[in-house]
Amino acid sequence: MSNFPTGVTVITSALEDGEPQGLTCSSMTSVTLSPPTLLVCLDTNSVTMAVAARRGAFAVNLLHARAAGTARLFATRNVDRFAQVRWQRTQHSGLPWLVDDALAVAECELVDVQVVGTHAVLFGQVEAITLFDEAPLLYGRRTFASWPREEE
Ligand SMILES: Cc1cc2nc3c(=O)[nH]c(=O)nc-3n(C[C@H](O)[C@H](O)[C@H](O)COP(=O)(O)O)c2cc1C
Repeated sequence: MSNFPTGVTVITSALEDGEPQGLTCSSMTSVTLSPPTLLVCLDTNSVTMAVAARRGAFAVNLLHARAAGTARLFATRNVDRFAQVRWQRTQHSGLPWLVDDALAVAECELVDVQVVGTHAVLFGQVEAITLFDEAPLLYGRRTFASWPREEE
């Protein structure tokens, strides 16, 4: 699978007024446009997964090319991840938005969960999108990369 390059996201969630949770996730896939639906595959031991299931919602922070450090941070155990980034709650649903690192944020209602072995597939119906004009961060062969600059 490491030879299949992807974009990189940080999936976040939080209970109402609760601590933000989030983890780096490359298993994000578009499912269908009607209704607008995506999926992410999260380890069933993940705290973010548990909070998203309780809250019934999660946000997909699609990382831009300058956010490789944040991708590493949100894959590191035993650190206060949110203390090291600028974040705020989104207007639509109050989910954690990584202000300096996301080129897009998709706020999703959790509409289905399917557990397969060690991971749970979370289906999210996209309720709101915030989009900025930035190039995406890429990941493959255990390396981060940036999208090549477009020819003038
Ligand atoms: C580039 C990259 C992609 C990752 N993709 C996923 C993923 O799709 N699903 C997953 O459960 N973990 C994924 N991980 C691993 C988690 O980010 C990592 O295990 C993290 O520590 C989990 O946090 P948690 O224990 O707080 O849930 C990925 C890590 C990296 C660096």
